[in-house]
Amino acid sequence: MYVAVMGYGTVGSGVVEILSKNHDSIIKKSAQNDIQIKYILDRNEFPNDPNADKFIKDFNIILNDDDVKVVVETMGGVTPAFDFALACLNKGKSVVTSNKELVATKGLELLDAAKRNNANFLFEASVGGGIPIIRPISQCLAANEIEEISGILNGTTNFILGKMINDNMSFEDALKLAQDNGYAEKDPTADIEGFDACRKICILAALCFGKHVYPESIHTEGITKITLADIAYAQSFGSVVKLIANAKKLDNGKIYAIVSPAIVNKSSQLAGVDDVFNAVLIKGDATGDVVFYGKGAGKLPTASAVVADVIDCSNNLERRKDFGWDDYVEDYVIDHLDKELSLYVRAKTNDTGSALASIHNTFDKATILNRCDAPQDEIAFVTPIETERTLRQKLDSINDITPLSVIRVCDC
Ligand code: HSE
Repeated sequence: MYVAVMGYGTVGSGVVEILSKNHDSIIKKSAQNDIQIKYILDRNEFPNDPNADKFIKDFNIILNDDDVKVVVETMGGVTPAFDFALACLNKGKSVVTSNKELVATKGLELLDAAKRNNANFLFEASVGGGIPIIRPISQCLAANEIEEISGILNGTTNFILGKMINDNMSFEDALKLAQDNGYAEKDPTADIEGFDACRKICILAALCFGKHVYPESIHTEGITKITLADIAYAQSFGSVVKLIANAKKLDNGKIYAIVSPAIVNKSSQLAGVDDVFNAVLIKGDATGDVVFYGKGAGKLPTASAVVADVIDCSNNLERRKDFGWDDYVEDYVIDHLDKELSLYVRAKTNDTGSALASIHNTFDKATILNRCDAPQDEIAFVTPIETERTLRQKLDSINDITPLSVIRVCDC
């Protein structure tokens, strides 16, 4: 069976490497006699690459070659990845992708094209890098009603927060290190502003709850405003700061979904997830909590998931796996302000005594936090649980303080 790889960046080159290095054991797991890469599509030149003879620049060569049964899309972005993937599916070729933006924004159309053409569109690598998560949700947990998903879905931001927490490293130095290690997206804004995690929770929410969820419908905050002061206060509260993606099914058939920094109690299974690791905590009505953990970014972990999908396609060449979800419906994701939770607040005040009195008058039970070397004019506290809307209205009503940081407290 012939495969084409579109995009020879970090993940694409990892796919080629694994298919070559583990060729013999891969073949044993495939119904096909052989799996070979026929073409590698990339606009750059790779004259010294061992696969130099396979590089092409014209996508139509792949499209019009009937021997190519599976196409790997590791280009990233939506354009031209979507057009290429759609054209391949319409020709009856199966498509495997690691591209979460493509799946989160165009997944429904591509799954539909796969269905119409009796082909497969698989994307295990799009969430959690090397962690098996898409197939376990759609197959192993299929007997469950999934109630909630909470996850650390971005390796770069987890790596950065870890360096800030454990090594007191600056945000900028930690980001540079993550980029040097090949964890970050081409434009790291997608990592640090939470867009990457947002795309991934969209995919998980669609799989778990059965309807497409578009990134625009999810309130998303990144980690750029997190300071070492917030990290110190979280520590004094027995917690750590993590970028958490969360989606929860509600009784009215809608869902709550959010990506934001969160104060996570150290007793949570997500609190100890360090470095570039990701973890996904799924609550099933039959299984209870199930946690998936592993490397969420990097060349070979992500390529491992892509190659597993290629093997799956090779075993299902003549039939489509029943896999997908329904269309989005309007107002399916509720306004995040309607969720009940508590907030951590760090604020500036000119009069600590009066601010403390106002905080206690406004909130039924607020927990005041302390940290070493806090400036005189700083105050930090955790509110009791109310809707986020009410909490923010109450915060606005306190004249003695100017909030500097407001972070959700996660009950994951
Ligand atoms: N930039 C992503 C991350 C890569 O850091 O998790 C994997 O999707």
